[in-house]
Parts: sequence; C-alpha cells; structure tokens
Amino acid sequence: MTTILGLSGSLRRASFNTGLLRAAADTAPDHVTIEIGSIREVPLYDGDLEATHGLPAAVQQLQKQLGAADGLLLVTPEYNNGIPGVFKNALDWMSRGPGLDLFAGMPVAVIGASPGGFGTILAQDHWLPVLRTLRTRPWFEGRLMVSRAGSLFDENGDLTDDKTREALAGFIAGFAASL
Ligand SMILES: Cc1cc2nc3c(=O)[nH]c(=O)nc-3n(C[C@H](O)[C@H](O)[C@H](O)COP(=O)(O)O)c2cc1C
Repeated sequence: MTTILGLSGSLRRASFNTGLLRAAADTAPDHVTIEIGSIREVPLYDGDLEATHGLPAAVQQLQKQLGAADGLLLVTPEYNNGIPGVFKNALDWMSRGPGLDLFAGMPVAVIGASPGGFGTILAQDHWLPVLRTLRTRPWFEGRLMVSRAGSLFDENGDLTDDKTREALAGFIAGFAASL
C-alpha cells in the first residue's frame, strides 16, 4: 500500500482546492491511499509560542502523518500570484523540530485550481524554492493546473467535470507509480 499525505491550502468550506483533493483521494488507484490532512488548527507561526510550548498539536499531527507517508501532495490555491499565507504558514510550522528530517527526500507533487485562466501556475512555481530548501524530491513528470474552476465544481466544492477527473486520475497514478 502506498500512502500519500494530501494537504489543501484553503480553509474555505466550498474550496475548489479542497474539492480537488477529495477527488484525488477518490480517483487514486486501489493500492494508493491519499490521507487528507488539515491545516485548519495550525496557529500563525510565532517563535515565542514555539519556545514556550513547543510544536502545537495540529503541527505534531501533520508531522506524524508526513512521517508515515510515502509522498506529499500539495493542492495549492493562488493568492496574488503566490502561495496563500495560511498554506506557507502550515509548512513553515511543519519544518520545525523534527520536520526538516521528515521533508528531506520526500517526494512532493503540487497541483491547484483557480477560477482564473492560469490554474495556479504562479503559485505552483512559488512552491519550488520552498521545496528545494526543505530538500524534498519534487515530482515534475506530471502537471495539473485547473483553470476556470467555477464551471468545474459545484456549490459544495465537489468536482463535477469528467475531463478534469480523468486528468487528475492520471496525475495521481503517475505520482504514485514513482513512489
Ligand atoms: C487574496 C486573494 C488573492 C487572489 N489572487 C489570485 C491570483 O493571483 N490568481 C488566481 O488565479 N486567483 C486568485 N484569487 C482567487 C482564488 O483563486 C479563488 O478565491 C479561489 O477560489 C481560491 O481557492 P479555493 O476555492 O480553494 O478557496 C485570489 C483570492 C484571494 C482571496
């Protein structure tokens, strides 16, 4: 069994990106489990908080999930042509304590959805220096940028478009096969 930790960078109830992550979990091959982690309870990074209380429980949970995973899937929204702050904040926390060792050599794939025409291409590129700094092993053999998401997801953020689902299934199968 191959396990991939999937993280969405949006807290929005009907998030396109969280919906894309759910669809990824649904379409994963039989021998692949995408475990959906949550960044919701991760506080804003504060070095004083870390010094006095250590890593927050939500961060420890994410690190535990990362440690048990064969790969990491980041499903990123794009804000102002970059990584949303809440998502970067979660990864920053996850890199603390034992985190750097967990990220080192970890295969990572990045996908994303946007209502605009460029499908998070700039946010995906923005992740690259972070993934390099964390000494991960980014997976570059597939690309998935979901544009015009408003017409591909329903009001609950569930993916309704078959072509996107097919492309997503191919992406996940390719990533999983590389693990
Ligand atoms: C502060 C902010 C900045 C944004 N900037 C971009 C952007 O640069 N490019 C883009 O494609 N969409 C941008 N958007 C629109 C988001 O793609 C859209 O809100 C999307 O639904 C967010 O992902 P989610 O549905 O997973 O929450 C921005 C949204 C916000 C709130």
